[in-house]
Amino acid sequence: MALKPATNPDVEAATIELSLDGRIVTAKDGVSLYDVIASTGNIVPAMCYHYTFDPFGSCGVCLVMVEGKKAPVRSCTAKATAGMVVRTEGDDLFQARKKAVEKHLSVHPLDCPVCDADGHCELQDMAFQHQVTTLANAKQKLIPEDTRSLVLDFNMNRCIACGECINVCKDVLMIDALQFMKKDGFTQVVAKGDVALSCEFCGDCLAVCPVGAITNKYSKYLYKPWQLKKTTTTCNYCGDGCQMYIETKDNEVVRVTSPLSWKNKWGDRAETAKGHGGICVRGRFGFQYIDSKARLRQPLVRRDGNLVETPWLETIHTVVERLAAIKAQHGPEAIGGLITARCSNEELYLFQKFMRAAIGTNQLDSSARYGHLNFVHAVQHALGIGRMMNDWEDITKAKTILLVGTNITETNPLTAVRVKEAIRVYKSQVIVVDSAQTNIATLASHPMLVAPGTEGLFIQGLVKSVLEQDLVDEEATSKHPQAFTALKQAASRVPLDVIAAHTGVPVEQIHQAAAIFAEAPRAIILCGEGIVRRTGGYRHVLNLVDLAWITGKLGRPGCGVNTITEEPNEQGAADMGALPECFPGQARFDDAGAREKFEKAWGAALPAAGRGSSLMEMLKRCQSGHIKALYVIGENPLATLPSSVGVRAALENLELLICQDPFLTETAQLAHIVLPACTYAEKDGTFTNLEGKVLRIRQTMDPIGESLPDWHIMTAIANGLGYELPYESAQDIQNEIMKLLPGYYNLGQPRKISPKSESYLANGYAAEVRNRYRSDLKRKPASGGTARRSFTLLMGQVLYHSGKLSTQASGLIKILPNTGRLHMNARDLEQMGLGEGARVRVTSPKGSLELGVQADLTVLPGSCFFPEHFNEPQVKDLMPVEVDADTGVPYFKLAEVTIEKL
Ligand code: SF4
Ligand code: SF4
Ligand code: SF4
Ligand code: FES
Repeated sequence: MALKPATNPDVEAATIELSLDGRIVTAKDGVSLYDVIASTGNIVPAMCYHYTFDPFGSCGVCLVMVEGKKAPVRSCTAKATAGMVVRTEGDDLFQARKKAVEKHLSVHPLDCPVCDADGHCELQDMAFQHQVTTLANAKQKLIPEDTRSLVLDFNMNRCIACGECINVCKDVLMIDALQFMKKDGFTQVVAKGDVALSCEFCGDCLAVCPVGAITNKYSKYLYKPWQLKKTTTTCNYCGDGCQMYIETKDNEVVRVTSPLSWKNKWGDRAETAKGHGGICVRGRFGFQYIDSKARLRQPLVRRDGNLVETPWLETIHTVVERLAAIKAQHGPEAIGGLITARCSNEELYLFQKFMRAAIGTNQLDSSARYGHLNFVHAVQHALGIGRMMNDWEDITKAKTILLVGTNITETNPLTAVRVKEAIRVYKSQVIVVDSAQTNIATLASHPMLVAPGTEGLFIQGLVKSVLEQDLVDEEATSKHPQAFTALKQAASRVPLDVIAAHTGVPVEQIHQAAAIFAEAPRAIILCGEGIVRRTGGYRHVLNLVDLAWITGKLGRPGCGVNTITEEPNEQGAADMGALPECFPGQARFDDAGAREKFEKAWGAALPAAGRGSSLMEMLKRCQSGHIKALYVIGENPLATLPSSVGVRAALENLELLICQDPFLTETAQLAHIVLPACTYAEKDGTFTNLEGKVLRIRQTMDPIGESLPDWHIMTAIANGLGYELPYESAQDIQNEIMKLLPGYYNLGQPRKISPKSESYLANGYAAEVRNRYRSDLKRKPASGGTARRSFTLLMGQVLYHSGKLSTQASGLIKILPNTGRLHMNARDLEQMGLGEGARVRVTSPKGSLELGVQADLTVLPGSCFFPEHFNEPQVKDLMPVEVDADTGVPYFKLAEVTIEKL
């Protein structure tokens, strides 16, 4: 697809003049005439046009008169040329457009009373607008509905063959799952090959379908559009922070829709660089957990070994009494807290304030500890910024994108769409370094498949290659000669051919990737779980900073080092100080100035500098009996961490385990007190997405049962403990944050940040870099044999799920239930004589279990994969755990195993 330059300032084209309804307008040569007309604010009726993809020209509604042409022309596919004289109004045009609408209606079933699009249908609107009052010629097509897809039904009687569904899927999403096919005498939309649709199930085709030809299985026949209450909010699944509409009826979520819609077809094409308005399968079809029957509806207090429903007042009283007693007897350090990064900024802020000021302890942590903090700490340390440097627009317009260790289509599907637009529209060179055959690797210009766990080593290879090929940016490196010498010395310790042997990528390909990256004027690095959640994550991010530095990409517009966040508010967790090492604003906890500021603001003496425990330390302290009470908000360490960590023993050793969660999680089942919390749909607040944008979440519905927002519960407990928190709404908390962190609430716009590497490179870098370049791989390569072989076992995220939360969403479980099977490469299955579903024994140094196998095209030979969302069977317990010495991040996503055929 070619970019429509009409609205894109980055595409060069001659400026021309043409006459529109007697007015002279300027435009870029060769662009869609429809775009030129629309850019003047004149909206000509159009049914198959959508600004996110190139015109298709099928509906015949967007007619205009062009001087010199006998008949009206379709303005969407007509190109603007110099001197064109165009008329957009007139009875002749009205009648011609009316005829086109009548033609569509003549083969449309008019089953509006039972159509989901009734009242929200472009064909209805067009018929009304053009006063189509006679439908005498209507013919029925009587095509049976295609219900083979898991989430979408295709009613081709209603289809007007506009092609929007096909075009959005092919052009915008680069998935290309749909096609037109002549069937039973009619042109119909079918899944490619006329099979049951099997795709990413983003539902963007549903969103742009102007009629009711594609319907949502999960909400069909449940509503009429005018019965729905529509609330704009931010998705709660991943850090992309997509804007969406939750639509409810009688306090039940009926459907989730997106800004991308046929209703919203007249945008500015250049603006899609910031996002096309779509959402992914999780956002659109994963809403059922919100009002699920499994939601906790009342507080539970353990009595005689059982969790018993108890009124709120009594429960809060018990919580306060028991926390106060433990604090009085053992001191504040006997209490710790954990919070999920699915909470809002206001709640994350309040949590750390609660722990530090109301309890008086600095033993607190969030789920950002599972990886994101490696990135935050590394770029904070090196560059003085604690988040990614680029936004979606920078990614879209990059000339080179280096994706390392990120299956981005699956973890952050809408950031992936930015990479796809970079490939498709801006012709970006994309280097994908991963140990799986990911979707983005298949689209990339330079896919580099590496051995599992060697993504970090590959980065060292890139740095070495830049040095060896002399691709160094003199201006950047000459300012810090000492640091540069130290880097060269450090890098010289690992020969490139050793890196090539370990990673499995030939030296020439490493050189090629390094050259493409170094020579690009706008080059973006995006790293993911393969870096931040794997051994050495912190160090590898610093190596990425080295790469950006020596190639002159630090601080240059459109360049930078970035990561993706898997949970919606991991960045907010870091920014709000929900970690022992930082106060809000990422001020160091031992910084005297910050301490004074927050002590004054909170009116409390804070725990001493140097004190505090993060997640893994806290679990140890629970086990040793130093921590007696743990307050867990939305976290579920028992289901997340391998059993060798001893989470169960740690939790069982507690005098008081308080779990605050929308669900009775595995951890909550061990709790003494369970507090029912609202989901994001039942409260107000904000999330900070991976770009650093602060985005609103808005209350969509009344809380389920007696559940309460997390901030509300914390406020009640603090007040009971005698530490006054005078908040009556999330806004009150926000007002306090605004005073303490001026400028944080940019609402919608990422704050501009610029990396500052001077101090890092001038002070201590030389000593520090010495140990960063090393090949510390101890792993054995996969070995032969047919009955018993060595493999690398990986755990990770899949597209249709997010953490454990999505497993509560029946819609996503329907799309991807837990098969309980190990994913393996077909070649390995064949070599071991294993058929689909065959049983194997998987053994690691941590244990052994039996499970079935399934073929997976994305898994490389010698490795195997299990989705981290499921604990049946307990594959996580096979994983060894290592804790990062610099950041306390626990690594447990990779294990060396043997697989035996049973
Ligand atoms: S749901 Fe998404 S991926 Fe599937 S056909 Fe529709 S647009 Fe394509
Ligand atoms: S299914 Fe909808 S979007 Fe697709 S061609 Fe038919 S009417 Fe257009
Ligand atoms: S899961 Fe992520 S990509 Fe999908 S809709 Fe939600 S925020 Fe967007
Ligand atoms: S909008 Fe131009 S032909 Fe459909």
